[in-house]
Amino acid sequence: MKKLKEELELFFKEFEDDIKNVDSLEKLKDVEIKYSGKRSKLHSFLKLIGDLKKPEEKKEAGFLINRTKSEIEKKLKVLKESCEKKEIEKRLKQQSIDFTKPVFSENKGSLHPITFIKRDVERILTGMSFSLVTGPEMETEYYNFEALNIPPTHPARDMQDTFFLLNGMILRTHTSSCQSRTLEKHKPPLRIFAPGKCFRYESIDASHETAFYQVEGLVVDQNITIANLIGTMKTLLSEIFQREDIDVRLRPGYFPFVEPGFELDIKCIICNGKGCSTCKHSGWLELVPCGMVHPNVLKYGGIDPEKYNGFAFGLGLTRLAMMRYKINDIRLLNSGDLRILKQFR
Ligand code: PHE
Repeated sequence: MKKLKEELELFFKEFEDDIKNVDSLEKLKDVEIKYSGKRSKLHSFLKLIGDLKKPEEKKEAGFLINRTKSEIEKKLKVLKESCEKKEIEKRLKQQSIDFTKPVFSENKGSLHPITFIKRDVERILTGMSFSLVTGPEMETEYYNFEALNIPPTHPARDMQDTFFLLNGMILRTHTSSCQSRTLEKHKPPLRIFAPGKCFRYESIDASHETAFYQVEGLVVDQNITIANLIGTMKTLLSEIFQREDIDVRLRPGYFPFVEPGFELDIKCIICNGKGCSTCKHSGWLELVPCGMVHPNVLKYGGIDPEKYNGFAFGLGLTRLAMMRYKINDIRLLNSGDLRILKQFR
């Protein structure tokens, strides 16, 4: 037993000498193999136990060997940690990173199709001397409904059910709320447009979403006529679709804040009016709800309807994006699916 003890001490001393030279993970590996691996001397010590006869001897030998073993393992663990730390520091020193360097990446990302359309429409309308205004997405019932000639009991509210918030406000159902806000603040003559997100309580399918984009347009001046409305729409749409021959037609449409109100259709730009699946074989595409501003709306804004009149329109940006990029399911636009978005670089 004495011999074993001495041998173990010698073995441990040898180990301590060896680890003095270890300063990298690579060197550490060699030491690990030599002193604690399956083929190490320590392992052969353990095998010796089997040769011992007496149980007390076995016990003592086991104790001595295991003590050495755990000492060695403890030291190796500490050494490993310090080697790892050294290695990281060394690597950090080697690869200095210059955060001010410009990044050249293949993966630049892209704008959302709705943003492309929105920017186009903004550019075109600004060019037609309309001014951009914005309004909040969280809106009061007053600006979204009441000031637009839709009193609380009006059935038109049913067509635009929305999200009612705990603070008593709602998520706006249309950008028309920007009409009432503008009329209250600015006096005619005025020409504004208001792009933005709208919300409705919808059952979602390929053409209905609870969140979508519109652009509101509003002109108030003296002696504005339906001809001005049609002319403006034709100019706007021919710029959007990049073609001169935009044919439009007006059908009656009901919106409490315009009188008369219209649905403006354009001759199908896919089949030129012959009839195709996009226009449901009618030759026409329903595109812009619009009309002449209702006198009550002007009154709510403190503007004299005897003196001033105007027109308004609501262009569906989401709808336009779907038409331009031939996206047949509105849900794809809100899904955040990169496979879709990557196509619009
Ligand atoms: N705000 C109406 C809607 O979202 C559209 C509209 C705007 C109609 C302006 C007429 C005038 O349905």
